[in-house]
Amino acid sequence: MHNFKRPMRLGLIFHIILLTGVTTALHANTSPVGLNTPKELIYPNIDPSLSESLYPNEAATAKQIADIIELSIRKQYAADIALRDAHPKAHGCVRAEFKINETLPQNLIQGAFIPGKTYQAWIRFSNGSSNAKQADIKKDARGMAIKLLAVSGKNLSDEATSTQDFIMINHPVFFANDPARYLSFMQDINSDKFLKKLHIPFALGAKGTWIALNTRNKISNPLQTRYWSMVPYQLGLGTNRQAVKYSARACSTVVSPIPAKPQQNFLRDALRTSLQEIDACMEFLVQPRTSSSMSVEDSMTEWKEDQAPFYKVATIRIPQQVFDTPEQNKFCENLSFTPWHALAEHKPLGAINRMRKVIYDQISRVRHEMNSTERFEP
Ligand code: HEM
Repeated sequence: MHNFKRPMRLGLIFHIILLTGVTTALHANTSPVGLNTPKELIYPNIDPSLSESLYPNEAATAKQIADIIELSIRKQYAADIALRDAHPKAHGCVRAEFKINETLPQNLIQGAFIPGKTYQAWIRFSNGSSNAKQADIKKDARGMAIKLLAVSGKNLSDEATSTQDFIMINHPVFFANDPARYLSFMQDINSDKFLKKLHIPFALGAKGTWIALNTRNKISNPLQTRYWSMVPYQLGLGTNRQAVKYSARACSTVVSPIPAKPQQNFLRDALRTSLQEIDACMEFLVQPRTSSSMSVEDSMTEWKEDQAPFYKVATIRIPQQVFDTPEQNKFCENLSFTPWHALAEHKPLGAINRMRKVIYDQISRVRHEMNSTERFEP
């Protein structure tokens, strides 16, 4: 989730790629090198029977956005440790157990959702703003990224990994659908021209601007807010495959008050204090779409819960723990979450997710390369 308040930066580099067909190789470097080096990346195929459709020049636009973000972090972190471009401020990475329900409706028993199975997991809680120093009391989007470990099955990642990531924000819809609009927005926020900033609402359109403003909120504890995947995912394979969205929320509805005098990093403090005292419990929910009028390409329109209910598929137990150590914080920074660390049964759907394949891969490689750190998947 990108934030309007971004330091002024140099303009963009146009990266023009010739495209043919639906499946497109974006990098030509196939030499046998480390995990930080780009290798041939294949733009995702669309699934027309789940009503996916490509936008014009989509793969090239994704690459242009990735190049703008790369330029931006190379400049912003030239003399510092490179952080994520989006969600750079973590409240903490915690160990968790992701326990699938003992029983599930037949249509939800797919991929990682094996009844009774418990996965070990890492969860990273974050703020959305590109400013990692922003005080937690400022309105912002809040992220929850779950990484399940040792998940058996065919993984869609280009890396040899057995992780399944679920990435969510505490708002149900995303502020953009259209790659061209997202590119225009990125050009605006990364420009050092003041007039470009005024153009942002035109780049996003009225609905996108409204969603972007409403995605920013205040919370008292990352364990007590509700998160949504915003964008859809496939569930299952073959003729029974369907489109779903995800959500996660606390098992209890208790919400603590925001402190009267909030410290800069009070959300980290709240997470630390909660987990010093007791185990935390969250529910993981799946929302199968109930009508093809619920679009997989339109991530700006919510699939209303009264028309498409959520089903609980797993309980997330975050055991009592000490997570706020220098070693664990460093480990957390070096992790990479992407929707494309996924089993084929949980394939990401829609233009925003397709573009994220290119963008998250490139940006994770760049920040690891800048920090002279090998990328690795636990
Ligand atoms: C085209 C749209 C998007 C772009 C360009 C984008 C860009 C990014 C980038 C560059 C990162 C950092 C990756 C890394 O360095 O490893 C990131 C992280 C993240 N994004 Fe997005 N994003 C997009 C859409 C979304 C959507 C729809 C969600 C909704 C759930 C989302 C949620 C997150 C979260 C929670 C993180 C932090 C993950 C972590 O803890 O490591 N993003 N995004």
